[in-house]
Amino acid sequence: MTSLTGKVVVVTGAARGQGAAEAEALAEAGATVVATDVTHAPGCRRLDVTSETDWAALAAELRTRHGHIHGLVNNAGVTWRARLDEVTADDFARVHAVNVTGPLLGIQHLAPLMPPGSSIVNVGSAAALTGHYPVAYTASKWALRGLSKTACTELGPRGIRVNTIHPGFIETEMTASAAPAFREAQIRETPLGRTGTVDEITPLVVFLLSDAASFISGAEIPVDGGHTAHGGAKSLSDALQRQQP
Ligand code: NAI
Repeated sequence: MTSLTGKVVVVTGAARGQGAAEAEALAEAGATVVATDVTHAPGCRRLDVTSETDWAALAAELRTRHGHIHGLVNNAGVTWRARLDEVTADDFARVHAVNVTGPLLGIQHLAPLMPPGSSIVNVGSAAALTGHYPVAYTASKWALRGLSKTACTELGPRGIRVNTIHPGFIETEMTASAAPAFREAQIRETPLGRTGTVDEITPLVVFLLSDAASFISGAEIPVDGGHTAHGGAKSLSDALQRQQP
């Protein structure tokens, strides 16, 4: 098992879903985990990722308590399933604040505490690689890719790695709120023919935070059962297969 012994890692959005599973897996791998969330949950320190004041307070606390930190998982995120003709500027900005400005503030406030060898993982989405219909969410996750690339370039000389993972449809409270038709269509478009679980995300996050990933930076790794690999060719292939003997 990959060891994170001696590393201090901050996880955002850790009250539930992927963030909670990541915090648990990182702790199991030996890390000292600082789990944070805007909502209250046992073992979670309160942090609203959109609040510069919250990030400054966390950074000051970590500096006093640990001196250094070695990892940040920018996992907190919100979706908003309005289409292009429905979305309001306010909702667009609200989603952007959590999904893009949140990770930006996290990197700005915590990177100064990171020694060489540290690692940042940004949680993107299959929506960051496609024209997924919830436009505020999709645009925010594409923007997060840009932030990740810039952070990789800027922080690399300090020995800090920045990578992005792109989950497909993972069973959490976020996707539980999706329409059944969304889930069914997603499964049809996924070569592995099913949705994913939080436990299929965590091993990659643990790996990217570990020294085993010491030369991996700027990477974007889908964890999506093949969903984003085919660019629409799966429905084509499926349709032809039905017609051919
Ligand atoms: P979730 O909705 O179950 O959990 C998200 C967590 O983020 C919640 O605990 C929530 O309180 C927290 N959060 C929301 N706003 C926050 C804020 N301002 N400050 C701090 N915490 C905040 O969602 P899930 O599925 O666990 O998603 C985790 C990440 O994975 C998100 O970035 C999401 O966009 C991304 N993702 C999820 C997919 C899925 O299928 N579940 C697919 C692709 C990406």
